Parts: sequence; structure tokens; C-alpha cells
Amino acid sequence: MSKKIRKAVIPVAGLGTRFLPYTKAIPKEMLPIIDVPSIHIIIEEALAAGIDSVLFVTTREKHSLQDYFDKHHQLENIIEKEDKKELREQLDRIPHNFKIYSVRQIEARGLGDAIYHAKDYINPDEHFAVFLPDDLIISKVPVMKQMVKVYDEFKRTVVAVERVPKNKVSSYGIIKAKKIRERIYAAEDMQEKPPLKEAFSNLGIVGRYILPGTIFENIAKTKPGVKGEIQITDAIKMLTPGVIGYEFEGLRCDTGNKFGYIQTVLRYAAMDKNMKGDLKKEVKKLFNL
Ligand code: UTP
Repeated sequence: MSKKIRKAVIPVAGLGTRFLPYTKAIPKEMLPIIDVPSIHIIIEEALAAGIDSVLFVTTREKHSLQDYFDKHHQLENIIEKEDKKELREQLDRIPHNFKIYSVRQIEARGLGDAIYHAKDYINPDEHFAVFLPDDLIISKVPVMKQMVKVYDEFKRTVVAVERVPKNKVSSYGIIKAKKIRERIYAAEDMQEKPPLKEAFSNLGIVGRYILPGTIFENIAKTKPGVKGEIQITDAIKMLTPGVIGYEFEGLRCDTGNKFGYIQTVLRYAAMDKNMKGDLKKEVKKLFNL
């Protein structure tokens, strides 16, 4: 199983309840990070890692995600007829050089079940990338690219991990970690959302995985776990101790909750040279700093 990683699975079939009522009609993956939806940033990360084919595990009301990456004929006509360079430049920012597939998860039965829907898309002898689009990670080297490098060396399942605060341990999948070297751990075991006093460590799994094509056999054997959902951590646990926990380089932004989303937008705005100065002034004014 040492083929190049070319395929990504992106589960987007969750209900997004933390963003209701917005998510009643619009997917949270379409929330704007200034002027691009968060899924745009995820796809850029995937392409930077060498991925050229993406499967969205999707659901009702999520067609805007695929529409975003599709050509908009009316706009294309206007640009062509009226030679609108500025519009062309903006549209050309959207990544196009990858194939998009989709499959529907009819009922949100958990992340493990969502990933199981990729069974016919992935060959049993290939590894594939999984992106949870809530997690945007600001980094010099895109995080999936960092993980592919680790995969190329170890040829094993890789899960992205970071040190999480103690009061958040029970919200994450946690690994029992034996350090191999800086940033790289052998995950000897794992647990989903353990109470703090039972947790193996504070190394929490975040939204990037490189999984083997055989994971579907494990998911099929996985019983509903925490919250009655099929948990991907429980399926990956069956692969331990042959799993690598990779402590990535980068700043993770959790856009899946309201404060995290605002924080993410501010972080991206602070990196934007056209906005940085005004943002700083505005924040000072707002908080009388
Ligand atoms: P979350 O646990 O964040 O759930 O899912 P959610 O539905 O997106 O949001 P809240 O908690 O209700 O606000 C993590 C990722 O897994 C996907 C989600 O779309 C998200 O990308 N997911 C989750 C599915 O695709 N299907 C599921 O059954 C559950």
C-alpha cells in the first residue's frame, strides 16, 4: 500500500446545529472567510498535497458546495463579451483542476458512517486523505502536505494531533502516544471523547487523516459509540499500534462554533495586508484599548 495519495474524502453531511438557524438553508462549509467559503481553503490545501480527486459526502441542501467549483455560464459570458479583467481574476481564484464526486449520507449517523460512504470510491490497496472542513489550519507548509510526507516515510495511517487544553480533552479523540521523534508519535491506542481522568494524554485528533482503503472493513465492524454515532476513532483504534500521530506545524482554527468562526475570520483578516491596519484600529476602538 505505497501508492501516491491522490484522493480525498470530505464529509459535509453533518447537521451543523451549532450554526442554526443559518445552517437550515446554507451549509456551514459555505461560511465566508472574508471573500471565499471555508471549503475553498480546504480544497486549496488538498491540491497542494497532490490530491486531484475529491469525494464530498453530502446531504440535502448542500448543492451550493459543488456549484461553487462549477463554471457559472452567465458570468463567463459577461466576462468574455465585456472583457471584465477584474471579474476574471476573482473567478480564477477558485480551484478547478480536480475531479469532484459526491455521495449522499441520508441520515447523519456519525463521522465513521459518513466516511464509510466512500467505500466504492477508494480501492482497498490505496491510502486516502480525509479533511474535516471545520478545521482550517494556517501554516507555511499546508498541513496535508506535511502529513503526506510523514506517510511517504512510514507508509502507515496518519492522524493529525495537537495538544488540547485539559478542559477540552473530553471533546476529542485522544491517542496513547509513544514519541518516535519530534512531532511524530506511535499511536499505541486511542479513545473517543474520554473523561479527563481516564485520558491517555492530551494529544487530541483534529480534522486531517490519512487512512488505508481497508478502513471500511473496520468501520463496518464499529458499533455506535459516543452520542450513539459511528465514530471514526473507534474504527482507527482497530489499526493501533500501527498508526502515526503527527503533531502538525500550524495554527488550527475551529470554524465549527460561533466564537471559533469569528476568531478564524479575524486571523485571516490580520494576515491580509489590505485589511490589517484598519482591523487593528477598529479592534482598539471597539474595546477602548
Ligand atoms: P461535527 O461533529 O462537527 O457535526 O462533524 P456537525 O453536524 O458538522 O456540526 P454540529 O456539531 O451539529 O454543529 C464533523 C464533520 O463530520 C461531518 C460534518 O459535516 C463535519 O464536517 N459529519 C458528521 C458527517 O458528514 N456526517 C455525520 O453523520 C456527522
